[in-house]
Amino acid sequence: MTTTDPAWPWWKEAVFYQIYPRSFCLSDPEGRRHRLDDEEGLPTNGGAEPGAAGSGRGVGGGAPDPVRDGAGDLEGIRRHLDHLTWLGVDAIWLSPFYRSPMKDFGYDVSDYCAVDPLFGSEADFDRLLAEAHARRLRLIVDFVPNHTSDRHPWFVDARSSRQSAHRDFYVWRDPDPEDPSRPPNNWRRSFGEGPAWTFDEATGQWYLHLFLPEQPDLDWSNPEVVEAMEGALAYWLDKGVDGFRIDVVHALGKDPALPDAPEEIAAIPWSALNDDERTHPILRRLRRFVDAWPQEVVTVGEVFLIKTALVATYYGQGDELHLAFNFPPMFCPFEADCFRRRVAEIERLLGPRGAWPTWVLSSHDRPRHRTRYGGSERRARAAAVMLLGMRGTPFLYAGEELGLEDAVVPPERVVDPGGRDGCRAPFPWDATAAHGWALGGSEPWLPFPPGAEHRNAADLAADDASILHLYRRLLALRRRTPALRGGDLELLEAPGDLLVARRQRESEVRWVVVNFSPEAVGWSPPAAGGTTSARGGGHEGPRFTVELSSGGEGALSQDGSSFEGRVGPEEAVVLRLA
Ligand code: NOJ
Repeated sequence: MTTTDPAWPWWKEAVFYQIYPRSFCLSDPEGRRHRLDDEEGLPTNGGAEPGAAGSGRGVGGGAPDPVRDGAGDLEGIRRHLDHLTWLGVDAIWLSPFYRSPMKDFGYDVSDYCAVDPLFGSEADFDRLLAEAHARRLRLIVDFVPNHTSDRHPWFVDARSSRQSAHRDFYVWRDPDPEDPSRPPNNWRRSFGEGPAWTFDEATGQWYLHLFLPEQPDLDWSNPEVVEAMEGALAYWLDKGVDGFRIDVVHALGKDPALPDAPEEIAAIPWSALNDDERTHPILRRLRRFVDAWPQEVVTVGEVFLIKTALVATYYGQGDELHLAFNFPPMFCPFEADCFRRRVAEIERLLGPRGAWPTWVLSSHDRPRHRTRYGGSERRARAAAVMLLGMRGTPFLYAGEELGLEDAVVPPERVVDPGGRDGCRAPFPWDATAAHGWALGGSEPWLPFPPGAEHRNAADLAADDASILHLYRRLLALRRRTPALRGGDLELLEAPGDLLVARRQRESEVRWVVVNFSPEAVGWSPPAAGGTTSARGGGHEGPRFTVELSSGGEGALSQDGSSFEGRVGPEEAVVLRLA
């Protein structure tokens, strides 16, 4: 699975599909029960409050626990690979499935080279990878380098004494003799209120954690940390994975002086602010490391700095990340102006440095975009055309192809300390009560999303007009249209409610027109690639064909119809010369 043209590595033209393993499908509860029964010493979430993340073991002993019993597994993913090939995506990004106490649902890793028995066995992972590859699907896994779990043997050792071998794997600071109760600086942690520091009574020092106290930060200025983490990368690369999504990658390099955050932004968690030059040599080394493997590896970094200008720097001179998430568009309301500005920024800031953009609207960390846009399926459809019609590598989040909204999670079922349960609702496969999950009459770890009795993969697959089929048609169109996959992008002038992008690769041209208005809007493509536009249609020039319409209520176009110079309310179309 290598590409022939080095200018077009596979990841530039691929569409990724993010799977959050807890939420995709549970297929083998018996296997889980046996694995957990066999387990001695699995770190659990002892001490958590009822209703808090992973409040007990459940399967394998103890009271029923939906957070464990009702979570998806790797086998559930393998059994649904056909859905992904039918849909037409090219690659999977798998969120963490490593051994973890699940305080942050797997982003607190206690063994980077082991599958958590909750999700399956190593053999299950190997089979999943082999079967994905057999279907020409690439698979990238999550790499969580900024912090470990506090149950990771390194941290257990580190906090055992100041002299321990792993003490310097983490960031420790002495208390201020004047005011021992004051943390070493003013950094705030993510999730819940509080400082990014916890005082370790036993050894008398503070340790740093940009996230939960159970997620101590590793110290990447320690070469032993770098080597140990390279060991983890090597482990998965040797198995044949195609790359890594790298968690909070911008946080790896830190100023050892740990200066206070400026007062006016000090309330923002430091994980959204840390932008230190020391990260760049770390990334250059990491890049050389992964590039040495025979498969064509991709790294896509989560740069949670909400400025495209900063995101751009993490590509280095083409020698750091292959791809970086660019989140500003995720923070746009459903308004043309905001998206136009974001697209213009991407072109201006990434284009000249040859940095290939990414596009993402939903993930396991934010309310789903349909929910953010007020719950309208019509808007979700138009957004899909935008997501797959802009320049860059798109990342879909499992379930957006069903037009899922966030689940309504009653207080007693809230489990995430970061308030992100809604978007992590289980994926409904069919219309049965368990929606295709092997729940055996028990509850899934979170409620199913609204309307799952109709809005599920089986029912939508049977309806050609569904949003699921729209995604499938869009992916097929993208796959057969080089201008959409990799063409240049020019933003055209257009009436206020429209976003119009002209895509071109060699002689092939397409126009992607997204109408953000609840009213129909007139627009005609300029005749010869210029930037003129006309309200109300009546354009005297070449004729255009609607190659694809987002459809939905009030749409004015149909796939294959001739374009009449008007785009329906909250409709998006892809046009080509007739
Ligand atoms: C970003 C991940 O996407 C999120 O889910 C996690 O909680 C934090 N990083 C901490 O690892």
